[in-house]
Amino acid sequence: MRMSRSFLVAFLGFLVLAVLIQAQDQSGFISIACGAPAGVNFTEPQTGLNYTSDANFINTGVSRTIVPELRDRYLRHVWNLRSFPEGKRNCYKINITRGSKYLIGASFLYGNYDGLNMLPQFDLLLGANLWDTVDIKNASVSRSFEIIYVPSLDYVHICMVDTGLGTPFISAIALRSLRNDIYETEFGSLQTYIRRDLGSNEGYRYDDDVYDRYWGYDDADTWYDNVDKWKQLNFPIDADSLVQNHYQPPAVVMSTAVTPANVSAPLVISWMPYDPEESFYVYMHFTEIQVLAKNQTREFNITLNGKPSSFKNVSLMYHSVRTIYTTSGISGKLINFSFVMTETSTLPPIINAIEIYRVKEFPQPDTYQGDVDAITTIKSVYGVTRDWQGDPCSPKDYLWEGLNCTYPVVDSPRIITLNLSSSGLSGKIDPSILNLTMLEKLDLSNNSLNGEVPDFLSQLQHLKILNLENNNLSGSIPSTLVEKSKEGSLSLSVGQNPHLCESGQCNEKEKGKGEDKKNTVTPVVASVGGVVIILVAVAAILWTLKSRNSKASMVEKDQSQISPQYTEQDDSLLQFKKQIYSFSDVLKITNNFNTTLGKGGFGTVYLGHINDTPVAVKMLSPSSVHGYQQFQAEVKLLMRVHHKNLTSLVGYCNEGTSKGLIYEYMANGNLLEHLSGKHGKTKFFTWEERLRIAVDAALGLEYLQNGCKPPIIHRDVKSTNILLNELFQAKLSDFGLSKVIPTEGVTHVSTVVAGTPGYLDPEYFITNRLTEKSDVYSFGVVLLEIITSQPVIARNQENIHISEWVSSLIMKGDIKAIVDSRLEGAYDTNSVWKAVEIATACVSPNLNKRPITSVIVVELKESLAMELARTKNRGTNTRDSVTSVTMNLNTEFIPQAR
Ligand SMILES: *[C@@H]1O[C@H](CO)[C@@H](O)[C@H](O)[C@H]1NC(C)=O
Ligand SMILES: *[C@@H]1O[C@H](CO)[C@@H](O)[C@H](O)[C@H]1NC(C)=O
Ligand SMILES: *[C@@H]1O[C@H](CO)[C@@H](O)[C@H](O)[C@H]1NC(C)=O
Ligand SMILES: *[C@@H]1O[C@H](CO)[C@@H](O)[C@H](O)[C@H]1NC(C)=O
Ligand SMILES: *[C@@H]1O[C@H](CO)[C@@H](O)[C@H](O)[C@H]1NC(C)=O
Ligand SMILES: *[C@@H]1O[C@H](CO)[C@@H](O)[C@H](O)[C@H]1NC(C)=O
Ligand SMILES: *[C@@H]1O[C@H](CO)[C@@H](O)[C@H](O)[C@H]1NC(C)=O
Ligand SMILES: *[C@@H]1O[C@H](CO)[C@@H](O)[C@H](O)[C@H]1NC(C)=O
Ligand SMILES: *[C@@H]1O[C@H](CO)[C@@H](O)[C@H](O)[C@H]1NC(C)=O
Repeated sequence: MRMSRSFLVAFLGFLVLAVLIQAQDQSGFISIACGAPAGVNFTEPQTGLNYTSDANFINTGVSRTIVPELRDRYLRHVWNLRSFPEGKRNCYKINITRGSKYLIGASFLYGNYDGLNMLPQFDLLLGANLWDTVDIKNASVSRSFEIIYVPSLDYVHICMVDTGLGTPFISAIALRSLRNDIYETEFGSLQTYIRRDLGSNEGYRYDDDVYDRYWGYDDADTWYDNVDKWKQLNFPIDADSLVQNHYQPPAVVMSTAVTPANVSAPLVISWMPYDPEESFYVYMHFTEIQVLAKNQTREFNITLNGKPSSFKNVSLMYHSVRTIYTTSGISGKLINFSFVMTETSTLPPIINAIEIYRVKEFPQPDTYQGDVDAITTIKSVYGVTRDWQGDPCSPKDYLWEGLNCTYPVVDSPRIITLNLSSSGLSGKIDPSILNLTMLEKLDLSNNSLNGEVPDFLSQLQHLKILNLENNNLSGSIPSTLVEKSKEGSLSLSVGQNPHLCESGQCNEKEKGKGEDKKNTVTPVVASVGGVVIILVAVAAILWTLKSRNSKASMVEKDQSQISPQYTEQDDSLLQFKKQIYSFSDVLKITNNFNTTLGKGGFGTVYLGHINDTPVAVKMLSPSSVHGYQQFQAEVKLLMRVHHKNLTSLVGYCNEGTSKGLIYEYMANGNLLEHLSGKHGKTKFFTWEERLRIAVDAALGLEYLQNGCKPPIIHRDVKSTNILLNELFQAKLSDFGLSKVIPTEGVTHVSTVVAGTPGYLDPEYFITNRLTEKSDVYSFGVVLLEIITSQPVIARNQENIHISEWVSSLIMKGDIKAIVDSRLEGAYDTNSVWKAVEIATACVSPNLNKRPITSVIVVELKESLAMELARTKNRGTNTRDSVTSVTMNLNTEFIPQAR
């Protein structure tokens, strides 16, 4: 029954029976035949694809050839392969355009190249992350892995890692540049799971497909019992006559389709994921392939797992491609799409092609590009022969030998240790080391380095340990280094350098001609301690001798390196106007991310201070931000959003992968803390206070929807995102990454998969269609929490949702059991009923029954008015008095919105 995973397999290398008509444009394609002799370029006659040897992309591994018998079955580009008997990690480095979307394929055909018939298993890395494990199951079957990926650097590393289960190898690599506006995800990359030309008995790829996607054909293994319920249709379409969309499914693929064999039954496409947690994106391609008569119509509804989707009354145009796709991940034990003919349709549904991708998250950011460039330069300057390939710091387990790195939660790893001791280095100390700006420990001991100890080493701000022992260094030790070691901020070891002299005994004028000097004298003997003592004594003398200018310029440079913007305007409120902060500003504002306020779906929130004003700094985890301009565009919009019930954005940081949002700080934390009373310093809210908070939050939401053009959908309304200031006024927060709804007739909006369980609109979950009503649902859940102080999902075996719990009590008419019992009856019953009514309407499964936010605001104010009437005028609880209070409420009790 289960779909075989071997479907990930075997397309790229397989012999495809597509007839070459004429070569399409291959710009944006990189096709590498691994192990092919250097300098060889060839064109596959079957596909017209031009391949090059891998010689320019890697300099390790050995070229091998598959057994000759297999050559008849496979295309030439997998006849050779590159095998890696040496080294743990071997990497290809392929130049690409950063921020562009690529379809990347890697193929593996073992072909018993080594005559051992031992099937290897090894890891495949993409950049800093594990892409997949390559598990060769059959020597004569090619395995392929394919992913849609947006590289963040100017190149990609594709690495094979020896995990002790056989010698890694690779047969072919293919990169195809895609449009950036197709196959969009919230985060993560898309791994090809199934791609099928439905209704066909042949597979197709380039040059039928402009992107060289391989379209497989119907088979019982993939679709198990679906297939025999289908009927194949085939009405050839000429490529020129097909009206395309951006997905560009090939005309030959669109020429065939499937339809239910039983005309009155639905068409079903279903599969069972191995892991119900896996998240999928599905792209379905349709076109009408038959000429319909006047009295014929083809129209269908699409359901997902038996529930209606937003795709109803779908109709198709003759020879015009229509692609319907999910805009967020879907998952489950069984995923079942049914296409149901509508009542008015005379023809059964059809579908021409389908693509299913699995979301693959790559959480580990690549090492900071500046560090990578620097260490790469160092490697080539000294001809370092170590096994240094791929990303220097990541994955952590494969850290380059001699390096140590920090792995900040929100940022790229940085190199902090470089140990090149006993590595046969010669020549001078290279200035490229200076570009490892976070370096704390530098060990160059036991080499043959010559020349002077360069002054620039003192510019490494974080350097704590410098070991230059046992080299051929000469000249004097720069005073700046001497000072640092005097202060105790640097541990300096310079012993066993016969020509190195103490600064005080060097002739300043002859500096730079160290080799010529005869009276260099007194080799600095011992390391650290000894040197430090001598140098301390010398330092004072030196201080006066040393040119003041060089000292002064040094300091200035240091400051400007730290934080130009910040330093210039340190004491000015203009800071708030500037709004763009560099990463080093953020470090300073947050005191190196010293205090964590919380963790959210998009990243971690830290406490910071700008001119003594506290702020909350949210650093976005790199995986949650895709699209470089998009972040900036969204933030710029949010900068303009101002409302007293929304936490205001003070500024932002957008430096490479460091993306942060700076918000006003809310002194009293979030609503949930107080409702649950979990943490020490919480306040118990009266019914009136609860309603005021509800009104505040509703006003914030209403402003996002009605006050902003285009409207903003929050997407993550929940009690932890309702923050309280020092006066316990509520503000909605965390709309920082809300998606803006485009105004012109767009049916649905691409969204973050996440949301928060319990708050996520179940309707949205099914339809992937995001509307204002999704936020209304979440708000309803919050309102239920405010009323009941109960957890959203009961922490017992039944996991009952707060809305089910409340509705079961409503059935019984038991209002007392619904309200937080700690209120001890101190509330107006009608006020509570009204609030419960609003909340239950908000969480209605029927979108149309959910009120719009402006109605919610009005109703909540009425509920508040009822409660105020009780507290002001105990005993009077008639409808009339309520109404009168309501009328002056707006001017008297509720602070006006800005
Ligand atoms: C592919 O290679 C052939 C033969 O070398 C050449 O004529 C053709 O222009 C190349 N095509 C592309 C798109 O690079
Ligand atoms: C092979 O192709 C590559 C990339 O297209 C090109 O740089 C190289 O010059 C070609 N080599 C030969 C021998 O044609
Ligand atoms: C990749 O780019 C780098 C830097 O631009 C360049 O030095 C290198 O030669 C390029 N590699 C290839 C294979 O084109
Ligand atoms: C390997 O695959 C080939 C071709 O598909 C098949 O004939 C052979 O039986 C397979 N071998 C094993 C050991 O499964
Ligand atoms: C065709 O499908 C309909 C509706 O599902 C069903 O009632 C009918 O029995 C099916 N006919 C055949 C021949 O299977
Ligand atoms: C449609 O019209 C054709 C004649 O033009 C007729 O033969 C056919 O029965 C009609 N079909 C339906 C469903 O009315
Ligand atoms: C298809 O959807 C429409 C619109 O929601 C609905 O009226 C109709 O009953 C549905 N038809 C079927 C067969 O499910
Ligand atoms: C690398 O740095 C970490 C943190 O600073 C430290 O715990 C670890 O011991 C270091 N590893 C090596 C090999 O120096
Ligand atoms: C350091 O990096 C900068 C910018 O990335 C580069 O221009 C410079 O050449 C590098 N310096 C050295 C000495 O490699």
